[in-house]
Amino acid sequence: MPKKTVEDIDVKDKRVLLRVDFNVPLNINTGVISDDSRIRASLPTIKYLVSRKARVIICSHLGRPKGKVVESLRMAPIAQRLSELVDLPVITASDCTGPEVESKAGKLKEGDILVLENLRFHPEEEENDAGFARKLAGLADIYVNDAFGTAHRAHASTVGVAKYLPAVAGFLMTKELRVMEKLLHDPERPSACLIGGAKVSDKMELLQNMLKRVDMLLVGGGMAATFLKAEGYEVGHSLVEDDKLELAKKLLQEAKEWKVPFLLPIDAIVAEEIRAGASTRVVPTTNIPVASHIVDIGPKSIALFQNGLKKCRTVMWNGPMGIYEMPQFAQGTRAIASFLSTLDATTIIGGGSSVEVVQEMGLTGKMTHVSTGGGASLRFLEGATLPGVEVLLDRK
Ligand code: 3PG
Repeated sequence: MPKKTVEDIDVKDKRVLLRVDFNVPLNINTGVISDDSRIRASLPTIKYLVSRKARVIICSHLGRPKGKVVESLRMAPIAQRLSELVDLPVITASDCTGPEVESKAGKLKEGDILVLENLRFHPEEEENDAGFARKLAGLADIYVNDAFGTAHRAHASTVGVAKYLPAVAGFLMTKELRVMEKLLHDPERPSACLIGGAKVSDKMELLQNMLKRVDMLLVGGGMAATFLKAEGYEVGHSLVEDDKLELAKKLLQEAKEWKVPFLLPIDAIVAEEIRAGASTRVVPTTNIPVASHIVDIGPKSIALFQNGLKKCRTVMWNGPMGIYEMPQFAQGTRAIASFLSTLDATTIIGGGSSVEVVQEMGLTGKMTHVSTGGGASLRFLEGATLPGVEVLLDRK
């Protein structure tokens, strides 16, 4: 059921507690933000609230301080960046609850923005503690959740507060949900899901759910080794999750029965050592040398994947095709990213490392949607209900 949004509620003059996901990559020594996309992604909601004369109280987590104050994870650099982006002063607080915050929240004027301190400095946040949620809620009249990236966490600021305030979705949350819902239930066909990454266990449920919904599945990256082994091939020293072999066989069998093409790499770049400068060669995946590791997909696999994808009207991509952190082994991942950016199709980049690659290559604007939520989009596409979404008011 679609959720009420910030446009369905009168925010004028109201104090609005806005949960965002400003968990951005930050150099903890210098406080320099290396990628501010998550801040930019919530600007439409923030600007809307300001233009409607709400009193905006922004809260977020940053990193994983585990319930303690960690100086390098304070919100100050983020508030500063936000202030530059909205071109307005932004008030900060040294905590997210307590008398100082209450006083600052109480004094906000129409259109003012207050950024609270890192929510995760309090253990009660991740515990979804009712008292902490009540204190946060006590600062405001309305709750808006724009933190799609944290919607898979049942925390005080994502779930608990919704018990005490009218709770609606921000524009980013709404957009992410719309894209993911369409991908699951009504994609323009043919549709494909291209999955990579190191561990098959992280993506097995996603593959199981997507197999029922798409017209083609493609698997690359380290996790392909488990599928190749399930097909009976030698994979050398490549990481195989033996406890997932049966599940991999079952998936491959189901794909055959349902006539859903399930493409695996047909060749691979292999190396005897995983280190920069290691010597590599291209081998067919039917002939991986015993003493080697698969480090990337090979040129024939790139061509095979591109050939499959070019027929599709919708493509979702999640996970690199090789050890992309090492430039020498990043060619398959980069080739796939470039190719997707040229497709005349809906292209959805499902979070995490694939997003990093797309951003680093300057291709973000060429994709239809680049998700701000790695874990959250994964959970959603597995078919799970996201707790931070469930608690928002339904649009009848
Ligand atoms: C993310 O970066 O995926 C979100 O901000 C959630 O962070 P978490 O995994 O620390 O809960």
